[in-house]
Amino acid sequence: MKTQVGIVGGGPSGLLLAHLLHLKGIDSVVLEARSEEYVVDRVRAGVLEQGMVDLLDAIGLGVRMHREGLVHHGINISFNGTLHNINFHELTGRAITVYGQNELQKDLNQAHRQTGRPVYYEVENLTLHDFDSPAPKIRYRYNDSDHELECDFIAGCDGFHGISRPSIPASAIQHFEREYPFGWLGILAEAAPASEELVYTWTERGFSLFSMRSPKITRLYLQCAPDEDINQWSDDRIWSELLRRLTTKDGWKPNVGPILQKGVTGMRSFVAEPMQFGRLYLAGDAAHIVPPTGAKGLNLAGADVYALSQALAEFYKSGSESLLGEYSSTCLRRVWRAQRFSWWMTSMLHVFGFGDDTAFDRRRQLAELDYLTSSRAAMTSLAENYVGFPII
Ligand code: FAD
Ligand code: PHB
Repeated sequence: MKTQVGIVGGGPSGLLLAHLLHLKGIDSVVLEARSEEYVVDRVRAGVLEQGMVDLLDAIGLGVRMHREGLVHHGINISFNGTLHNINFHELTGRAITVYGQNELQKDLNQAHRQTGRPVYYEVENLTLHDFDSPAPKIRYRYNDSDHELECDFIAGCDGFHGISRPSIPASAIQHFEREYPFGWLGILAEAAPASEELVYTWTERGFSLFSMRSPKITRLYLQCAPDEDINQWSDDRIWSELLRRLTTKDGWKPNVGPILQKGVTGMRSFVAEPMQFGRLYLAGDAAHIVPPTGAKGLNLAGADVYALSQALAEFYKSGSESLLGEYSSTCLRRVWRAQRFSWWMTSMLHVFGFGDDTAFDRRRQLAELDYLTSSRAAMTSLAENYVGFPII
């Protein structure tokens, strides 16, 4: 089989890239290791930056997002039992949209199906070959037989645990990494959101986040150990800890309801540089991971694949490799800004440990939160980074 761009991974990066390429008349084949149901059902990101919303609108994929997504004009930061609102709209004129990654994935799957271009799910033993030449190949097993896909380019959109990044010779790529001594225990609950906007909460017991998916579904997180055993957390224990962390002095607290899903996610910051080797281009979580505190991962994935689609379109139109040559540096500038922001949000809001400096660090965090919520300049800086920088 032959195509122009072989895309490894059918998550948001892979399918959005396939769609952007389709709109430029460029052929692609998407190869995904998991089933379509698995990819749609996993509960992940919830916040779309304004730039991502603008991108989806520009390619005609924003209709359901505008109908069902929730536009938020700010967020709340809570500490010492008091909520402080940061109004993005007033500070930047921009907003964010709460729309689950699952929903976006469904929209992408449906739009892609209509193009008639193939996505192969449940492929196995995928390997990349000859991507340092003009004729890369992807080999894989599908439906109990071996296949080879010949292509001009390979897009590695296969997430942090994929095979694209490790296929690049170690001498040609550098990794920058930070692990955090905690994770997030996240739940989806059948309960109406008790606040119109997200609440990021600092407490002595650790961080907690109140978010949502729809007018009937609340999404909540609490800081836990990185290897926390979810089986030790009964629904009652989860609610009691969430209520302890989130309830404010004036009595605001999330509504309690049946827990529909629960899981633990580790936290890390990671960047691979450059995001390209020969004709293999990395995009999204395959190239970088941010801790979720800044709500940036999915948005960075969108910005990467938009830049890659523009570069490939220029190549197929004029033969010029100029944008392809700039792909990595263009993306990395945004990636490092998002890394800094996500690290900063994470460091400000989590309890780091119980070493000698902890008491000092708690006071420092409280001073930072006090400054953040009382200085227009500090709030504007958070708002500008949270709503994100334009993508298109
Ligand atoms: P992925 O979604 O990981 O997709 C990669 C795909 O490649 C997968 O489907 C995988 O099965 C497939 N694959 C892997 N290996 C192979 C292989 N060998 N062959 C073929 N296919 C393969 N981001 C935000 O912007 N806002 C948020 O609010 C936010 N909250 C988050 C909350 C949590 C709890 C988590 C875990 C993440 C959150 N993120 C958030 C991050 C966001 O979910 C990711 O950045 C996003 O999924 C990246 O998309 P991707 O397509 O690059 O990678
Ligand atoms: C979510 O709704 O899942 C969510 C929101 C904001 C974050 C992280 C996750 O920072």
